[in-house]
Amino acid sequence: MSMQVQEQFEVVYINEEQTAATFKFYREDHTLANVLRYPFSFSNRIFKAREQGFTEVVCSSGGNAGLATAYSAMQLGMNCHIVVTRRTPSDVCECIRSYGATVEIFGDVWEEANSQAIKRTTISKTSYLVHPFDHPVLWEGHSKIIDEIAEDLGSVVPSMIVTCCGGGGLVCGLVKGVRRQANWQDRTKILVLETVGTDSFNVAVKAGGEPVRLDKITSIVTCLSANEVCPQILDDFKASKPPILSRLVSDQDAVQACVKFLDDHRFLVGTACGATLSSLYIGMLQRILNHDEQEHETIFDKANNLDYSHNTDGPVVVIICGGSEIQLDSLLELRKQFNC
Ligand SMILES: Cc1ncc(COP(=O)(O)O)c(C=O)c1O
Repeated sequence: MSMQVQEQFEVVYINEEQTAATFKFYREDHTLANVLRYPFSFSNRIFKAREQGFTEVVCSSGGNAGLATAYSAMQLGMNCHIVVTRRTPSDVCECIRSYGATVEIFGDVWEEANSQAIKRTTISKTSYLVHPFDHPVLWEGHSKIIDEIAEDLGSVVPSMIVTCCGGGGLVCGLVKGVRRQANWQDRTKILVLETVGTDSFNVAVKAGGEPVRLDKITSIVTCLSANEVCPQILDDFKASKPPILSRLVSDQDAVQACVKFLDDHRFLVGTACGATLSSLYIGMLQRILNHDEQEHETIFDKANNLDYSHNTDGPVVVIICGGSEIQLDSLLELRKQFNC
């Protein structure tokens, strides 16, 4: 397996059978760019809050959502308070503070941080709660990613869009975007990766798309650690337009993918992206495209054994959307921890 870097993040992947597929590595969130797509999604809501007379926005997220809220608030001249859990890396807290927001460290899991954020906005009449993943305005913003990809691809229809899932906001946006493109929803699937231990979407998929709450978050991928996904992603899963496939990888797979991606592309990404990328590195994506998965892997797909015979040669689009929580030192630490 080899990857050749093309211009920017457009990469051609050549597998052992010499079939070529184009991968668009979409740099959505990394240092300065960390503030490109996500803030666009979040700034609309913050703008509306400002119009309604709110002076502060509050969000519970130590991931892209928290960073984007802080950045947007700074741009719009609003005060901002971000609640993160104790497991959020200190670099992320620093980054949020650098946008002028205050950081409150509360609880061990996202739900606890979120209750604290809700409490703050209930007590103060001038504080506005920005939910990190469960709001149509966010989905609309995220959906623009697809418009941009479609513009890049011209008339080419991708076979698969690969991404990761925390509470499901990003996936809901991608679904919305795919539905807007002529012919995509019948020809493009969304492959959603989670790590074992942040598998809130996967447990719901295994329950046929019904809500299920994860009691414990046990993965190192803290920015994907929602105990329960938003209802919209479950509706989208059940509607299967486009089909959404849910798959799990291990923390070790995610870390290993970060290391390999850094080696291959000189591009440092966080472990959430690592989860997404590991589907390529461990051969999962190829097996899905070649219908080479075992029955137990596909059994919970909506309309089990969907007809993959169409459009398997369309490009695969990989959404790379996070790097803020990772530093070279912390990746090296993780590499040691997971012996990879
Ligand atoms: C790095 C990263 N990837 C993906 C996501 C998408 O999460 P969600 O499914 O909650 O929209 C997030 C959310 O904050 C994130 O921080």
